[in-house]
Amino acid sequence: MQSARAFGLALSAIALSAGTVWAASGGAHIERHHWSFTGLGGQYDKAQLQRGFKVYQESCSACHGLSRLSFRNLFEAGGPEFDEAAVKSLATEWPNQIVDGPNDDGEMFERPPLASDPIRGPFANEKAARAANNGALPPDLSLIIKARTVENHSSWPLHVVQMGKDVLSGYQEAGADYVYALLNSYKGSEPDTNGMYVNAAFPGGKIAMTPPLTVDNTVAYLEDGQSAPEGMTVPPSTVAQNAEDVTAFLAWASDPSLNTRKQIGWQVMIYLLITTVLLYLGKKQIWARLKH
Ligand code: HEC
Repeated sequence: MQSARAFGLALSAIALSAGTVWAASGGAHIERHHWSFTGLGGQYDKAQLQRGFKVYQESCSACHGLSRLSFRNLFEAGGPEFDEAAVKSLATEWPNQIVDGPNDDGEMFERPPLASDPIRGPFANEKAARAANNGALPPDLSLIIKARTVENHSSWPLHVVQMGKDVLSGYQEAGADYVYALLNSYKGSEPDTNGMYVNAAFPGGKIAMTPPLTVDNTVAYLEDGQSAPEGMTVPPSTVAQNAEDVTAFLAWASDPSLNTRKQIGWQVMIYLLITTVLLYLGKKQIWARLKH
């Protein structure tokens, strides 16, 4: 008993004395960021998803597709919830066309996307994408938040304590933390002699992606002279704000039903709690006349 208590004390002492060390797979340090959708009850912030889509459209769609998402998802509940007509007209103007066909002459042809079509990237195939990007492939971003994580490089007792904390708090945002850090961790915006850019968050420290967001090149949330919609505050367009918004948007893209899932989760827990109480009372009632 005493040794168990001593072990517990030792664990909490370690947990208190040293901060947990987070790193992307290559070893770079990754901070945790606060997200509106974090934790057991967190939800996406619709205004943030709308801003994030704007950043994706104006900055990232020049190289990255979002092919597991259709245009119609942009006006469905639980996401950015843009106006349906606005999304449909946006689709017709989307620069990356859909290859369809064959037509009556047996030819394939290109046409603008419909609301039901995927949000394609600009490149016809992987070779074309690599040729345009110094040999590197810009990955499709639909699932990038789920595909990336942050490793815990702390000593094992601390690791175990942190895992426990993460389970209790419902932490699942390592992918978002990584992408946010990636967009914020460029050192300078000039490539080295191999065409690579220094980025402290990217495993290995050098990435082929040109810095998409820089102090001189951010995505404005409001057009010149446009004022914020009533009842809405629009944050200033800084690199960090653009990065946060586009990461939140990509988090939604990789998990579009999070809002409903977390709401239903709580309803189910409350329902089960009430059922447990009723079953317990029922059991007492049924067995009341039996002595035991
Ligand atoms: C000029 C083209 C270009 C633009 C614009 C661009 N990217 Fe990239 N991106 C790339 C390339 C190329 C890679 C692959 C890099 C590598 O493997 O070295 C990449 C990789 C990535 C990765 C994966 C990193 C990893 O861990 O493998 C993420 C995430 C990413 N980009 C996000 C974004 C976001 C968000 C934007 C918009 C704000 C953006 N990119 C804009 C070209 C681009």
